[in-house]
Amino acid sequence: MSDKYIPELPADEAVIRLKEWAEKYSADKGHPPLAFVHSYGCQQNVSDGEKIKGMLAKVGYGFTAETNEAQLILLNTCAVRENAEDRVFGNIGNFKKLKENDRDVVIGICGCMAQQQHVAEKIKASYRQVDLVFGTFAYNDMFSMLWEIISKHKRLFNQNEACTEIDESMTQLREDKVRAFLPIMYGCNNFCTYCIVPYVRGRERSRTPEAVIAEVKSLVEQGYKEITLLGQNVNSYSYGFPKLLREIDKIEGKFRIRFMSSHPKDATRELIDAIVDCEHVCTHLHLPVQAGSDRVLKAMNRRYTTEKYLEMIDYARSRVPDFSFTTDLIVGFPGETYEEFCMTKDIIKRVKYDNIYSFVYSRRSGTPAAKMADDISDKQKGLWLRELLLEQREITSEGFGRFVGRTVEVLIEGEGRTGEGWLTGKNEENIIVEVEADKKYIGEFVKVHITKAMNWALSGELVTE
Ligand code: SAM
Ligand code: SF4
Ligand code: F3S
Repeated sequence: MSDKYIPELPADEAVIRLKEWAEKYSADKGHPPLAFVHSYGCQQNVSDGEKIKGMLAKVGYGFTAETNEAQLILLNTCAVRENAEDRVFGNIGNFKKLKENDRDVVIGICGCMAQQQHVAEKIKASYRQVDLVFGTFAYNDMFSMLWEIISKHKRLFNQNEACTEIDESMTQLREDKVRAFLPIMYGCNNFCTYCIVPYVRGRERSRTPEAVIAEVKSLVEQGYKEITLLGQNVNSYSYGFPKLLREIDKIEGKFRIRFMSSHPKDATRELIDAIVDCEHVCTHLHLPVQAGSDRVLKAMNRRYTTEKYLEMIDYARSRVPDFSFTTDLIVGFPGETYEEFCMTKDIIKRVKYDNIYSFVYSRRSGTPAAKMADDISDKQKGLWLRELLLEQREITSEGFGRFVGRTVEVLIEGEGRTGEGWLTGKNEENIIVEVEADKKYIGEFVKVHITKAMNWALSGELVTE
């Protein structure tokens, strides 16, 4: 049974009480109550964290990057792999002293980990310093829960299940003023056998194209230059994803559109055509293959074969010869043999990805794969991962070489790693580009003549007309 929460006050009344409390707090202390909000995991979670911040700002909270200054600490967690969960438990342990020093400090855990009942039970029993544990369906209850904790020192657990509505009234408070994450859909219906996401995020629900297009327009008007559309599988966006890209492309202005993730089982030629045709959409596709063996893909319930996957790659490259691909890979899925792992190496050599995100398989309780026999040691899987990364390093160095001598457009993000006076940004293919240039270019598009390819980035000279 999951922990159910029934609010004492409706949200709008809780908002009024919280605002009054925050005003009084500010008058007493000379500053608003401060919140520390940290999001782990994927971009979807980061964008949820921005929504939470938007909600807190609405009732009068300010923000801090220091936990010891915070009146409210919220960790927005990820459950996708064990090491993500371990990090969170480590951090919760560190908050024990803060709570002992000031019982009015509110400590909350939310997000994907907090949606799991066994995590809620563990925190309830062993981490008394935590006041609030709420899952991914409980954002609408956040004001009521906060008010009950602040006014009555309650300890609340909310693992309410699946809400199907999308609340368009919650706006994201984005820290970055140049690049924005924009969810177009929530949840996942795919149930890959290794993955916890469908259990903690519920079924797919899509925002309307009107809502998405209006938000893109507003972001472009505010000066955003790169907008990443988010969904666990944007290809199953209910209103048609290629169509949405073409509609967004009609918006005027200088901006880039990226998106993730795109499930290969639903990737179509229509999608590739939209990417190639749309001026604002970057010619780069993150297409997570996960494994190179058809038997393993079947056991993962991915519902495509390597043949179908490669067909899509070949079609994209027939339209744009150096169409850029990146991917996610899992090493050591239960029952994977060394020969099957070698097929993963073969596929990265065949596709020549610009980058890979590879993970050692992590057992997630509650998923079908958790019950499969798994007789390869973690040490062995770690060695396979190293082997894969070494292979990719060569592919990356070689692939990046195609840019040397070309002039590319780069959106500058900040100071670079190369040294004093260097800036860093990304080209259309999402590859890091370092360039020596004045800091005034941060947040701007610039042209860079590429002179060098490394295995982690490109570098070059600023081109000024
Ligand atoms: N929806 C996206 C898709 O299907 O491509 C993926 C989202 S998932 C949050 C990000 C990546 O985490 C997956 O592509 C997969 O490679 C990895 N992942 C998910 N569950 C995992 C597990 N149990 N162990 C290791 N890696 C895992
Ligand atoms: Fe997880 Fe598969 Fe859904 Fe991606 S598509 S979130 S890997 S279940
Ligand atoms: Fe994302 Fe982690 Fe949840 S990857 S959807 S934050 S489990």
